[in-house]
Amino acid sequence: MAEFDVIIIGAGPGGYVSAIRCAQLGLKTAVVEGRETLGGTCLNVGCIPSKALLHASHMLHEAEHNFAKMGLKGSAPSVDWTQMLAYKDDVIGQNTKGIEFLFKKNKITWLKGWGTIPEPGKIKVGDEVHSARNIVIATGSEPSSLPGVTVDEKTIVTSTGALALPKVPKSMVVIGAGVIGLEMGSVYARLGAEVTVVEYLDAITPGMDGDTAKTFQRILSRQGLKFILGAAVQSAEVKRGKATVRYKLRKDDSEGNLDAEVVLVATGRKPYTEGLGLGALGVEMESRGQIKTDGHFATNIKGIYAIGDAITGPMLAHKAEDEGMALAEILAGKAGHVNYGVIPGVIYTTPEVASVGKTEEQLKEEGRAYKVGKFAFMGNGRAKAVFQGEGFVKLLADKETDRVLGAHIIGPAAGELIHEICVGMEFGASAEDIALTCHAHPTFSEAVREAALACGDGPIHS
Ligand code: NAI
Repeated sequence: MAEFDVIIIGAGPGGYVSAIRCAQLGLKTAVVEGRETLGGTCLNVGCIPSKALLHASHMLHEAEHNFAKMGLKGSAPSVDWTQMLAYKDDVIGQNTKGIEFLFKKNKITWLKGWGTIPEPGKIKVGDEVHSARNIVIATGSEPSSLPGVTVDEKTIVTSTGALALPKVPKSMVVIGAGVIGLEMGSVYARLGAEVTVVEYLDAITPGMDGDTAKTFQRILSRQGLKFILGAAVQSAEVKRGKATVRYKLRKDDSEGNLDAEVVLVATGRKPYTEGLGLGALGVEMESRGQIKTDGHFATNIKGIYAIGDAITGPMLAHKAEDEGMALAEILAGKAGHVNYGVIPGVIYTTPEVASVGKTEEQLKEEGRAYKVGKFAFMGNGRAKAVFQGEGFVKLLADKETDRVLGAHIIGPAAGELIHEICVGMEFGASAEDIALTCHAHPTFSEAVREAALACGDGPIHS
């Protein structure tokens, strides 16, 4: 008999959530994790620490720009960087210990070390071999490399290095105007660094609703971030601790360069599947390095499954979590399902940006008849009271049926507001359903309702 019902490799959001659900469903569960703390990239060097720094730098921004307006007098605080990093580390510690507690509570075994799969049904960790009826690969992703750019995590850093710089740099070049580049870029811009973002495409945040991306860029530019768009980075060189980034403009091949104290490479991530022994096992892979799975997360090898960043789909912690839970249900003999049409995406800058469902560009491409309901936060009393009257809620609904097809929000608490739309979409809501739902006053959420009203007879406050 197998020692475990399930062994999961990787204790990130995909792996640890799946493990907890497996245990709750009565499966004898173990997780292999080589890092000293649980939680994977997200908790240790990703989502959670970056949110701590985003919060701290936002507070500084408020003190510098808005305190006096509210009658809060005194000089703006100065940055004690060592303490800010200690605060960030404390937040990480609280969260990773929380998962350790949940593992104990749910009687999940933590197999400490890096695992390999010598044969189906077996996992080797150090010198020990464990057996399991099911193996789940939840090993996540790692930063992808850029030709001509060598990361040293000191001068040329990935997000990991950017979360632990020895001091706030005077200047920073960010390569890639995606989520990581803009979140970390805005942290350092608010802390006083001169930040230039170099992006290959002609717009920031590829895949985002175009209207929203344009407004987002305008707001970030006003906050001091500089953008060079349509520019392919050719190389980054470090001399005497300073870096020079060379780029080529795509429109005319002209070349330019930028000097900076720190260069952040944020050009995407790739699945992390090295060292597992997948090649020898004959596990089929996709062309871009992801593990190939069927609709139930099964690989082509019986008893081996994969979830999260290691398979196709958006590289988001919550997508991995949902897959982990669905797979646990499947392994316990129940039905598990992920609705990929309703996975929100959030960028945690100030203002936040959040999206779910289709963009306007996608609807046009599909030739679908749709209507747009848009409401600016300028018309929302609560947003103005907290100096966040920039941005809007944009709702996309089917022209005939009024069914909500997507939403794009840029503004205060956008990352929270989006979930009203997610729940609505799961229930097949129409814009009118949202418009006829009473929303408390004064809340940011009223802007969502106003956008829904704008899909019908019109909003009240614009
Ligand atoms: P990304 O895929 O979001 O953006 C990478 C950007 O780099 C793209 O705009 C791309 O056009 C650009 N680029 C690529 N090569 C370039 C070159 N040679 N020169 C100039 N620009 C170039 O990747 P990112 O920001 O590194 O994030 C990685 C993953 O982590 C993403 O899947 C993201 O969704 C996820 N993530 C999500 C967060 C969130 O949900 N808030 C936070 C952080 C990361």
